[in-house]
Amino acid sequence: MANLKAALIGCGGMGRAHANAGQALGVEVVAFCDVIEAAAERAREEFGGRYATTDADRIMRDDSIDLLYIATHHDAHHPLAIAGAQAGKHMMLEKPMCIMRHQAVEVAEAVEKAGVKAVVDHWFRIQPTTQKIRELIPHPRLSHGQLAMENYNTGRVGAKWLWDKDDGGGLLVSTAVHTVDLLCYLMDSAGDRVYAESHLFEPEHKGTSGYPDVLVGTIVWQSGGLSTIISTDQGFNPAVSKWFHEVWDGERSAVLSSHTARVDFGGADIDTIDLNELSAEEMAKVRGAYPIHANLLEAIRTDGDTICNVHDGVKSVSICNALDEAARTGKPQDVAR
Ligand SMILES: NC(=O)c1ccc[n+]([C@@H]2O[C@H](COP(=O)([O-])OP(=O)(O)OC[C@H]3O[C@@H](n4cnc5c(N)ncnc54)[C@H](O)[C@@H]3O)[C@@H](O)[C@H]2O)c1
Repeated sequence: MANLKAALIGCGGMGRAHANAGQALGVEVVAFCDVIEAAAERAREEFGGRYATTDADRIMRDDSIDLLYIATHHDAHHPLAIAGAQAGKHMMLEKPMCIMRHQAVEVAEAVEKAGVKAVVDHWFRIQPTTQKIRELIPHPRLSHGQLAMENYNTGRVGAKWLWDKDDGGGLLVSTAVHTVDLLCYLMDSAGDRVYAESHLFEPEHKGTSGYPDVLVGTIVWQSGGLSTIISTDQGFNPAVSKWFHEVWDGERSAVLSSHTARVDFGGADIDTIDLNELSAEEMAKVRGAYPIHANLLEAIRTDGDTICNVHDGVKSVSICNALDEAARTGKPQDVAR
């Protein structure tokens, strides 16, 4: 297969990680697009390539481009992914696939209709720790998923735009969607019903949308399994890490910590996998953008499926929307199917 040609849309921190991963896998990243011209130009200077532009339509019309990396703010995921599918481009879609379920469904339909390959960048799925849990605990009964990050109010971490109604969509769908997706993957199921409470402890610096900075919820899975979830920016603790998950099946259990790089098993033949023992170079091959890109390229090459396809993208957004609605109304919500 000749080298694929890609365009990056959204030339910020994550977009540049995708350009890096693509190049490391032999993709030619030929075009760079951002609403901020200087950001697109900076990325083109950093990675080489033919042109920088603020016009996403130019990318869509460019028949030499096979592949898009969409790493913009969240409001643009929906229109860009639909335009990309209609233009016949394969796509690496940043999370959340969309802010709202109905948008995600439209993206899934457009991708199916166009017959292009797409992967949603829920890379926690692909790493060896997660894969080992799937192997040893294929049918969990219970799980817990947690996003617990440093307080955005400090201004030291995170992006303010996440709290914006249009750009971001709030902490749950912006960031804890990773946890929801990982629970979908580990429970090997889709959401059936959810319960939730939420709270906005610190409205300062969190925009005017009123999104909660804490949500505590329960997910009932179609498989009959149960999960609890916490999404909060009320403080990081290295003992549990920003991302923390637990899984039980009645005989075996797993605890996923250290930003999902370490898993400790109970009742299984092995005790621990700790990816922190790998060299930085080895680690980069099994976590983050690189393995997700490799998975997408393999799907394109073999006409196979990706590890997190557009239907998976719909599932996690559907659960996030239902949790938000359950917290807003104080009533359990069925997860739309
Ligand atoms: N998968 C992960 O682990 C992970 C980690 C961090 C961020 N992300 C995701 O990556 C995406 C980008 O996040 P980031 O941290 O790089 O943000 P960022 O603010 O650093 O970069 C986003 C860039 O997109 C540009 N942009 C916004 N709207 C655009 C549009 N309509 N067209 C073209 N460019 C546009 C902005 O100007 C900015 O340069 C988000 O979806 C975020 O949730 C994923």
